[in-house]
Amino acid sequence: MYLLYTILASLVCFFFLKWLKKRRTCTDLKRLDGKTVLITGGSSGIGKETAVALALRGARVVIACRDPSRAEKAVREIKFKSHSLNVTHMELDLANLRCVREFCKTFLQREKRLDILINNAAIPGVLDWTDDSFSMCFGVNHLGHFLLTNLLLPRLKECAPSRVITLTCSNYKYQKLDFQDLNYNLLPFFTYCRSKLANIYFSQELGRIMEGKDVTSYAVHPGFVQSSWTCHYSFLFRMLMQVIMWMFFVPCETGAQTVIYCAVSDEAAKHSGGYFVDCRPATLRPFARDSGVAKKLWEASERLVKPV
Ligand SMILES: NC(=O)c1ccc[n+]([C@@H]2O[C@H](COP(=O)([O-])OP(=O)(O)OC[C@H]3O[C@@H](n4cnc5c(N)ncnc54)[C@H](OP(=O)(O)O)[C@@H]3O)[C@@H](O)[C@H]2O)c1
Ligand SMILES: *[C@@H]1O[C@H](CO)[C@@H](O)[C@H](O)[C@H]1NC(C)=O
Repeated sequence: MYLLYTILASLVCFFFLKWLKKRRTCTDLKRLDGKTVLITGGSSGIGKETAVALALRGARVVIACRDPSRAEKAVREIKFKSHSLNVTHMELDLANLRCVREFCKTFLQREKRLDILINNAAIPGVLDWTDDSFSMCFGVNHLGHFLLTNLLLPRLKECAPSRVITLTCSNYKYQKLDFQDLNYNLLPFFTYCRSKLANIYFSQELGRIMEGKDVTSYAVHPGFVQSSWTCHYSFLFRMLMQVIMWMFFVPCETGAQTVIYCAVSDEAAKHSGGYFVDCRPATLRPFARDSGVAKKLWEASERLVKPV
C-alpha cells in the first residue's frame, strides 16, 4: 500500500515540476543565411545553445571566449550539432578593457559583417576585481559589454537592420543603482543584481539612441537555467544547486529560446529597447524603466571606459 502511495506521490511531483517548467519556444522559423552573429561567452550554457540554433538557421557564428581551448571544444560541438561549418571563435576577456579594444580591432578587420550582437557572457555574484579595478560583476557584465557594443556599433549600423541582444536577469528588481558607488562589491548576490539592472538600462538607452537607425536593442531574461554558472562556487554549494536546478531550472536549450526569438522575430523588433521573457515582451518595474537613470548610466559608463 505504502509503495503505491509513494509511486503516486512521485508521479504527481514529476508532472507538477514538468508543468512548472513549461516554457514557450520560438516559433518563428526565419533563416539567417548571409548574416553574421557574435555571441560573447558562447563556450557554455545559454550562449552555446544559442550558437547552435542560429548556426542551424544558416548564420555565420563567432563566439567570443576568454579560454581558447574551451572555445575550440565548443566550436567543434556547435558545428557538430548544427551541421554548419561557418562557426569560429575569437579570444575576448571582458574583465580587461584593453583586451576588449583589441578584440574589436581584430573582429572589424576579420569579419565583413555584424548583424546580430549577443551580449551573453556574465559572471554570477562573486566578489572580485577586474584588471581595470572595477568590481567583477559590474566590469564584466556591464562595462565590458558597453565598450564592446560601442566599438562595434559602426559595423552594426552599416549592416542595418541589425540587432543587439543583452542577457539580463529578473533578479534586477532586488537592487537599485548607486551612482556614488557603481563599483559596489559587498554582497555577491547584490553585485550581480546591480550588474543585471545595468544591463537593462544599457539595452534601453541603446534602443533610444539607435531609434530610426534600424539597429534594435533587446534585454532578455532567459529564465532560470541549468547552465554552468555554479562553477564559480564551492563544491558544497554546487551540489546543493545541482538538486535545486534539476528540480526547478530549465535546460539551456529552453533558456536560449527568448534570445533566439529576439534575434529573428519581426514582432520583437516592434519593441526595441524592451524587456523580453518567455518569448514575448514583458513589463519592468517602473524604476527600471526610468530613462533618466538609463541616460545617466550611459554617460557614467562613457566616462569610465572612454569608448572614443
Ligand atoms: N543561468 C541562469 O539561471 C540565468 C538566469 C538569468 C540570467 N542569466 C544570464 O544568462 C547569461 C548566460 O549565462 P549562463 O547561464 O549560460 O552562464 P554560464 O554557463 O556560466 O556562461 C557564462 C559565459 O560567460 C563567460 N564569461 C565569464 N566571464 C567572462 C569574461 N571575463 N570574459 C569573457 N567571457 C566570460 C563564461 O566563460 P568561461 O567558460 O570562460 O567562464 C561563459 O561562457 C548571463 O548573462 C546570465 O547573467 C542566466
Ligand atoms: C559564412 O557566412 C557568411 C556570412 O553569413 C557568408 O557570407 C559565407 O558565404 C558563409 N561561408 C560558408 C562557407 O558558408
